[in-house]
Amino acid sequence: MADLVGVFAASHGPLLIREWEAVPPQQKQRLEEAFGTLGERMAQARPDLLVVVSPDHWSNFFLDNVPAVCIGVGDSHEGPPEPWMKAFPHRELAGHPAFALHLVREAMKRAFEPSVSHRLKLDHGICIPLWRMNLERLPRIVPMIVNSIEPPLPSLARCLAWGRQLADAIRSYPQDLKIAVLATGGLSHSIGEPTMGAIYEDFDRETIRLFSQSQTELVEYLEEKLPVSGNGSEEVRNWLVAHGAAGARGFELVDYLPVPKVIVGCGFAAWRVAA
Ligand SMILES: [Fe+2]
Repeated sequence: MADLVGVFAASHGPLLIREWEAVPPQQKQRLEEAFGTLGERMAQARPDLLVVVSPDHWSNFFLDNVPAVCIGVGDSHEGPPEPWMKAFPHRELAGHPAFALHLVREAMKRAFEPSVSHRLKLDHGICIPLWRMNLERLPRIVPMIVNSIEPPLPSLARCLAWGRQLADAIRSYPQDLKIAVLATGGLSHSIGEPTMGAIYEDFDRETIRLFSQSQTELVEYLEEKLPVSGNGSEEVRNWLVAHGAAGARGFELVDYLPVPKVIVGCGFAAWRVAA
């Protein structure tokens, strides 16, 4: 039987790479420590396989085809296509088709109907956290792409339910495998809209607090505030999948800091995983 050995989340703003040198030293240090802590926790959990829950940033999908959820079922995945990610050390990342297809089949049984891809490009959303976490050994990756970019977006309640479904699929997988989940994205940011560059720190802090409260309170707050907290904040959907997977018992906040140079409220979390 497979085991869920860890659930984590980290921000992934592109400027964490592109404008890294411009980040003030104290913030740089905190960001390095936060990514490093998640990397250490991940290394201690020793996952064989990592489900990375992330949006796609027009790397695989465009307006002619925008799935709500897509699972990468390939033997391998392509490294990040963005030219500014070319120093990322992996051009090819190993997948795990057997678990990925198990996840899809279990989902279909419960009337969750993801799309599947045998060949995904893993863009900065997935690769920045993997890179910054400095993992000595990269586990096999099963990407779970959740549309957080182009409305209509999957509902917040559905993202939580996807997380529960993901945890059930892990526990029902017949082989001995240690599986971790990494959600990426958020917290608040605003891209390509009149509020471009805004960080909504109050929203971020209240969202973080509510992850330790009831799911109803969390969802009601997000439904009210997401439309006025920057379009990038919609990426919190990926955190909701992680929250559902971990049994929704709250997380340890590794760090949160608004970083104006990278125009993101940067959050890092490690969940308490339900036995
Ligand atoms: Fe993003």
